[in-house]
Amino acid sequence: MLDRLNAIREQAVSAIAASADITALERIETDFLGRKGVLTSLLRTLGSLPAEQRPQFGSAVNALKQELADGIEKRRQELKELIGAVKIAGLDITLPGRSLPLGRLHPITQVLNEVCDIFRRMGFGVAEGPEVELDFYNFEALNIPANHPARDMQDTFYVDDKVLLRTHTSPIQVRTMERLQPPLRIIAPGKVYRCDSDVTHTPMFHQVEGLMVDTDISFAYLKGTLTHFIQHFFDAKTSVRFRPSFFPFTEPSAEVDIQCVICRGKGCRVCSNTGWLEVLGAGMVHPAVFRSIGYDSERYTGFAFGLGIERFTMLRYGIDDIRLFYENDLRFLRQF
Ligand code: FA5
Repeated sequence: MLDRLNAIREQAVSAIAASADITALERIETDFLGRKGVLTSLLRTLGSLPAEQRPQFGSAVNALKQELADGIEKRRQELKELIGAVKIAGLDITLPGRSLPLGRLHPITQVLNEVCDIFRRMGFGVAEGPEVELDFYNFEALNIPANHPARDMQDTFYVDDKVLLRTHTSPIQVRTMERLQPPLRIIAPGKVYRCDSDVTHTPMFHQVEGLMVDTDISFAYLKGTLTHFIQHFFDAKTSVRFRPSFFPFTEPSAEVDIQCVICRGKGCRVCSNTGWLEVLGAGMVHPAVFRSIGYDSERYTGFAFGLGIERFTMLRYGIDDIRLFYENDLRFLRQF
């Protein structure tokens, strides 16, 4: 029994010394000395001891109660003095703390990460390239020579004759193929720039490029990959449509539409009553692109696609003005 009393003393003395404020100290007081506290409960067991041990044990418990009460009182005075001293120094440590505002990821970053994750799970690696790009990678190597009318499809910010801000992530296709031999399967996320601004266009936006090259890649691979991606990103019931289109660096080329996520294909303002929304461009890599980087265009085939992240984010959250993403209004951004 006396061992037990010693253990309780040790435990209580170190808890009192460690208490950092009055509330913690009061909790210790209740735990050890309160009506349901450790020592009071111990006194209640007095009756079960042999009669000759009772007086000695009873007075030991009472002495410990007194010792702990004195210790608690002493610590209470110390803490009061400490708080007083800090108050005099202009600080009140008893005030509740101010929480620091916690940052969070921008909705565009969240969607960009999500898109990359879906492709990573399909075995695509991630490639990168420079935002300030050579005309060669942005246009020439992609089968868009100088004075080609397709240059007008993308209003370009030029730094000088040969250097520009990349207008799409497709130059990363070329840079990756220069570096690596097939088979390859990559995505390339990044910022791109065009002299363009209205409710669905901003001068800077984000694209994710995709490229797969091997000996037997057919259009069916492209359809399968993009359908899987879109049904993962939106939902499994989303219908997908491939519409013939034109890009100088792919042949055949397609634009991919999804069933309008707002009206479910019935026709509304967002889809201009067509029931469909265009979400990305894609196609089979043009043999001229393979030749420009020295791949054997008889041996290899591949598909490529490029999607706009802002567009996917707008559709996901039903946002009808792209500029909201870049006004940095926290009331808007906090909703994501
Ligand atoms: C391209 O940029 C092609 N490089 C895509 C591609 C890659 C096709 C590989 C074939 C093979 P396009 O100009 O359509 O294509 O742009 C792709 C997407 O970027 C569009 O669907 C749209 O969602 C988005 N986009 C284009 N311009 C803007 C802009 N100013 N602001 C925001 N998003 C834009």
